[in-house]
Amino acid sequence: MLRTHTCGELQLSSREKEVTLCGWVQKSRDLGGMTFIDMRDRYGITQLVFNMETNAGLYNKARKIGREFVICATGIVKERSNKNLNIPTGEIEIEVKELKVLNPSDVPPFTIEEKTDGGEELRMKYRYLDLRRNPVKKNIILRYEMAREVRKYLDKKDFIEIETPVLIKSTPEGARDFVVPSRLKAGEFYALPQSPQTFKQLLMISGFDKYFQLVKCFRDEDYRADRQPEFTQIDCEMSFVERDDILKTFEGLAKHLFKKIRDFDYTGAFPRLSYSEAIEKYGTDKPDTRFGMLIQDITELAKGKGFKLFDSVEYIGGICVKGGAGYSRKELDTLTAFVRKPQIGATGLVYVKLNSDAVKSSVDKFFTREELDKWAANMKGENGDLLLVLAGERKKTLYALSKLRLEMGKQLDLMDKNTFTPLWVVDFPLLEWDDESQKYHAKHHPFTSAIKDDFHLFKTDPGKIRANAYDLVINGVEIGGGSIRIHDKQEQAEMFRLLGFSHEEAEKQFGFLMNAFRYGAPPHGGIAFGFDRWVTLFGGSNSIRDYIAFPKNTAGRDVMIDTPSALSDEQLGELSLKVVNK
Ligand code: AMO
Repeated sequence: MLRTHTCGELQLSSREKEVTLCGWVQKSRDLGGMTFIDMRDRYGITQLVFNMETNAGLYNKARKIGREFVICATGIVKERSNKNLNIPTGEIEIEVKELKVLNPSDVPPFTIEEKTDGGEELRMKYRYLDLRRNPVKKNIILRYEMAREVRKYLDKKDFIEIETPVLIKSTPEGARDFVVPSRLKAGEFYALPQSPQTFKQLLMISGFDKYFQLVKCFRDEDYRADRQPEFTQIDCEMSFVERDDILKTFEGLAKHLFKKIRDFDYTGAFPRLSYSEAIEKYGTDKPDTRFGMLIQDITELAKGKGFKLFDSVEYIGGICVKGGAGYSRKELDTLTAFVRKPQIGATGLVYVKLNSDAVKSSVDKFFTREELDKWAANMKGENGDLLLVLAGERKKTLYALSKLRLEMGKQLDLMDKNTFTPLWVVDFPLLEWDDESQKYHAKHHPFTSAIKDDFHLFKTDPGKIRANAYDLVINGVEIGGGSIRIHDKQEQAEMFRLLGFSHEEAEKQFGFLMNAFRYGAPPHGGIAFGFDRWVTLFGGSNSIRDYIAFPKNTAGRDVMIDTPSALSDEQLGELSLKVVNK
């Protein structure tokens, strides 16, 4: 080893010891006669000191060393006169006797310190430099620690990690596939897995009974702060289980991670909420339950009272903002503009300020005080509260209310990053009607089984069938989702039929799975967690990019290696491809 210690470990107990450290120059200060260098490695920062009086040659050498030079310094550990108690090595410094430059560095494009002057784009271009910065490095280490704890927990529970292929055929997880052209078979393509769904089911048929994998998945979809084109799942599957066995096992994983990563003891079982309840109370299937402010349906109370805007709508609902009666006209106008944004989609916002002497609302002309009092009673509004009401088509209005609720949660600081409220959302619909294609789509995926009590609806009302599917939601983030699978060939064929696949199409795309079902498929089910999202939640950031060593930007680009990029004509030719419109 070129070094005896790292830059993060030396303390007063090593006083007068001779040590050799290697690392990067974070910064140097020349105080005339004395030069100090902060040397950084993965473990921390140690101060080197060079004294003109004791060694003028070395002092002059040190003065010429620039930021990010890679150096190796040998010297004696000394107690610092000017201590920095904010860092573990802050009580000592190294009085250097020998200094080697292992590699010089150009001036870096931005400062590599806790706080940097580099913008996002520049830091992404030089991601390997950004990763030297403590806040970024910390995230990557957190990611590793979480992966290690996932493996520890699952290993203890007898799960084994099995790799599944990356060059496969399309898996229907609802996004577009990334495809890889075959050179040997012109015009044919592999697809990259959107998830290892079918393979993990085949592994159950092989008898592996408890599988997991920390696995890369690929989805060509619109990217947001919580989505990447390639991301990692903690993918799991178990045989001979029912829904509650899966929920119990993975609730255990979640509690293990809470404890090990956030030192948080979650006691008791995670709450469970049905999909329909989640939509009704929170307007979304991934409710943030760190705060209340539940949505109340006041359609019956507010419709048919002569207020035109309300009389023609399907649904009227609202939230009660505790202590919000003091909201100013301007603040309410801003909220109105918020709900009217195209991505929220409401037409307007009705407010009612509850004060003991006077109830003031934007619809005073249309509703009596008694009527507004009834709204307030229904919405559990009290003196000093503010009621915010939206109306329109049920689904769209609940969606807008869910966004308004989150906005109010943010404004009132009700979403503490260090509070975690996990819950299971269960009983999702099995199918979703798609107006565009005039077909049912699988809400989770086509391998999900229906709840037995709803089997009779297959012939009469498929849209009402509930799935044996579940999501783990923490603080409004969908951390994972899974289901009990179909393991019967006939049932799977029926499902494909419902989804509008012809017999031939189903055979062509999923024949291998249907065939496998003929040879003793055990009852099985599983779940997959978005690993990047989970680390992000525990790390306290909003963007999963912060926890991925080399992420893509929101346009799906890696600006560091500059890809996606064009292929040469020669490569295109080999792959029998032709670019038709650039
Ligand atoms: P699903 O499609 O719900 O289920 O994915 C599981 C979890 O993966 C995360 N996730 C993503 N994270 C980052 N970027 C993305 N583009 C992205 N897409 C999804 C989410 C999500 O909850 N095969 C099934 C699981 C199963 O049934 O066992 C599946 O993939 O956190």
